[in-house]
Amino acid sequence: MKKRTDKVTILDFARWKEKGEKIVMITAYDVLFARIFDEVGVDSILVGDSLGQVVLGLPNTLGVTMEDMVRHTGAAARGTKRAFLIADMPFLSYQPGPEEAIRNAGRLIQAGAEGVKLEGGRNVENTIRAIVRCDIPVMGHVGLTPQSVHRMGGYRVQGKEEAQRQQLRDDARAVEEAGAFAVVLEGMPADLAGEITEELTVPTIGIGAGPRCDGQVLVMHDLLGLFEEFRPKFVKRFGELKRPVRDAIRAYADEVRRGKFPGREHSF
Ligand code: KIV
Repeated sequence: MKKRTDKVTILDFARWKEKGEKIVMITAYDVLFARIFDEVGVDSILVGDSLGQVVLGLPNTLGVTMEDMVRHTGAAARGTKRAFLIADMPFLSYQPGPEEAIRNAGRLIQAGAEGVKLEGGRNVENTIRAIVRCDIPVMGHVGLTPQSVHRMGGYRVQGKEEAQRQQLRDDARAVEEAGAFAVVLEGMPADLAGEITEELTVPTIGIGAGPRCDGQVLVMHDLLGLFEEFRPKFVKRFGELKRPVRDAIRAYADEVRRGKFPGREHSF
């Protein structure tokens, strides 16, 4: 039997769902963090378009470009050996239609991703089908889809009303039927995410979608306590790294100002 230390492939996602083994996914945008997460043994690394907020300082993900994603996907790929590397398709890289989507998905694969993720349900099923037909694994993303922030009127939990619950179920099923190997469920009631997880044969990866998903994903800056602009309810901080970083920089500045650093041991 394949051990969890072996290189993760698309086949593992289906196997883990079948066996009820939880899938661990985290975002990374550069070689250093990708290497740390890979060495620790996370199952999948996502070069998310959350890059826009946590790395580039943009107000949302809409300003992220293909050039940004290609550059950061390449960096993360150079730090990833075992985990399955997925790259987000940014806004306007797939919405214009299947042909443009195939070309852009291909660029991310050439940069080192092993699969791509795109947002939407029934509205993108033909696009997903077209990319999958080119042998590029696709992960879907349903529910609170950040690229639709203006349509949603903000980052709001989706699927609170019955009619919308059914729409999200239909979206998730459409994404699976189009050939996606997994689906991110974001920002929806836990019971709805649980129902979708039971209905689908492909694994669901939750973020703000409760504990019944087949796996979980978090933005690295959120879980490490590095991003403080806002803190959604679903984020658990597993570290508080901002404080030690600040302390280290203060100590450095203090020693430079007092002429303590560099000492003889740091000089030639
Ligand atoms: O962009 C991103 O980081 C994502 C995850 C939060 C799912 O899409």
